[in-house]
Amino acid sequence: MGGGAEMSEAHANLIDAARDAASRAYAPYSDYRVGAALLFDDGAVVTGSNVENASYGLSLCAETVAVARALGEGRRGGLDAVAVVGPADKGDGAPITPCGRCRQVLNEIAQLGGTDPLILCVGQDEVREVRLSRLLPHAFGPAHLNQAHLD
Ligand code: THU
Repeated sequence: MGGGAEMSEAHANLIDAARDAASRAYAPYSDYRVGAALLFDDGAVVTGSNVENASYGLSLCAETVAVARALGEGRRGGLDAVAVVGPADKGDGAPITPCGRCRQVLNEIAQLGGTDPLILCVGQDEVREVRLSRLLPHAFGPAHLNQAHLD
């Protein structure tokens, strides 16, 4: 990983979970298989993989699927970290960062619980760690609608 710090076992396991999720991607059109794994403060991990559609524009990213699953399970916060893994054999090997829409979707569950999750962007030779607030500064979210910290 970049920066030299040792990665925690929980974060290493989270990356493994994201990689495993990527193997279950439904990505017949792009063949670009992505996995995301969300780590919550109770230790739970919720994963998602990208789900494409014959009507290409309707495709869902891995991060969005993971957040939808978590919210569907009743989770309303406590999001500590997110790992995102793309295919090892595609692109330039740079760490994969969530797309703009996924940043906003991640912000929903993060801001609901008042956390600023660490995003582990996995690349070929490095894991870039960046807070969601740096990926999406001055985010609009549930707090603007007085929905933060509510179940
Ligand atoms: N994709 C994700 O699942 N997450 C990202 O962060 C970037 C892109 C998906 C969308 C599409 O299915 C494929 O990767 C190629 O863009």
